[in-house]
Amino acid sequence: MKSIIAVDLPQNAYKVMIAPDALDHVGGWLADHQKPLVPTGQKLLVVSNPVIFRHYGDRLVQSLTAAGYQVSTCLLPAGERYKTLRSIQKIHDAAYQAKLERKSAMVALGGGVIGDMTGFAAATWLRGIGVVQIPTSLLAMVDASIGGKTGVNHPHGKNLIGAFHQPRLVVIDPNVLKTLPAREFRAGMAEVIKYGIIWDAALFETLTQAPRLDQYRYVSGELLQTILTRSCQAKAEVVAQDEKEAGLRAILNYGHTIGHAVESATGYRTVNHGEAVAIGMIAAGRLATTLQLWPAAAEQRQTELIAKAKLPSQIPPNAETERLIALLQADKKVEAGRVRFILPKAIADVFITDQVTDNDIRPVLAAMTNP
Ligand code: GLY
Repeated sequence: MKSIIAVDLPQNAYKVMIAPDALDHVGGWLADHQKPLVPTGQKLLVVSNPVIFRHYGDRLVQSLTAAGYQVSTCLLPAGERYKTLRSIQKIHDAAYQAKLERKSAMVALGGGVIGDMTGFAAATWLRGIGVVQIPTSLLAMVDASIGGKTGVNHPHGKNLIGAFHQPRLVVIDPNVLKTLPAREFRAGMAEVIKYGIIWDAALFETLTQAPRLDQYRYVSGELLQTILTRSCQAKAEVVAQDEKEAGLRAILNYGHTIGHAVESATGYRTVNHGEAVAIGMIAAGRLATTLQLWPAAAEQRQTELIAKAKLPSQIPPNAETERLIALLQADKKVEAGRVRFILPKAIADVFITDQVTDNDIRPVLAAMTNP
């Protein structure tokens, strides 16, 4: 079982390899080209967090050294609060110690935080060296590792500092998900469901047919391979059509407008990103039905899928409606004073609008808020 997905960018095209035990093949895949993705004999800096590295570091390093690379490592603590310029400085210090050169590369082994930071450190070291993404969370596999968005948080907001820097290769080993906490698996499933709504009706049907979606152990290897392949294919197609988010790419933010407001209102502690996206998709679906833009039956199907993944559909009580409205106004997606929403018209068909008013949103949020 192996899927190879092409991210067809005019410059910087690359592939996403999805295969069980792919971790053991990374070195070969980097070196085994007429023009290797990173020249053999070169230096590679593996950036990871201690927990992930303890599970998977040895296998990755062995694969890279067996292919002739000189490997060093940089371990950083896990978690969104470490996604700062201070951590970038640490990666740059390790790059200096390891004497990385223009032809060297960094390898991100971890979830979205490690991937975003390593990508940004690579984008800025020596004005840009290669990066390889090896995501270990479901969320990073289907979203953050593909598309070249890299960066860190600023005290005033998430991802305010960053750069587009496409990877040379993305390697996804579904077997590493066995050590992912169940709550994080469900969070990744929110982004998978998103692709079913915004892009891929066949994926939506597959998810609808699946017996369970809430835990790794209930999802067969074959189904997981299909879910990963179709989700990454969807992301690759959108990014290939609009690399720098001039238009279409914004549809990847389906569920994120209200989702970000919920995360922010609850101090990033009550719900995680995927849970916030699930709540945001429920809200966007409700809004679209209320505005008579999509059928109630389609909304119901979306709601059932989110419930099947045991993701939340209610706004936590500590996120008051008026606070959410204020946060939506401050959201960086506000253009000329209007909030930009991604709304569904049908399964696998969404559109971008700035015509939604606070008066449309308010009753939807109020009805979704836990008393
Ligand atoms: N995560 C949204 C994007 O990559 O554009």
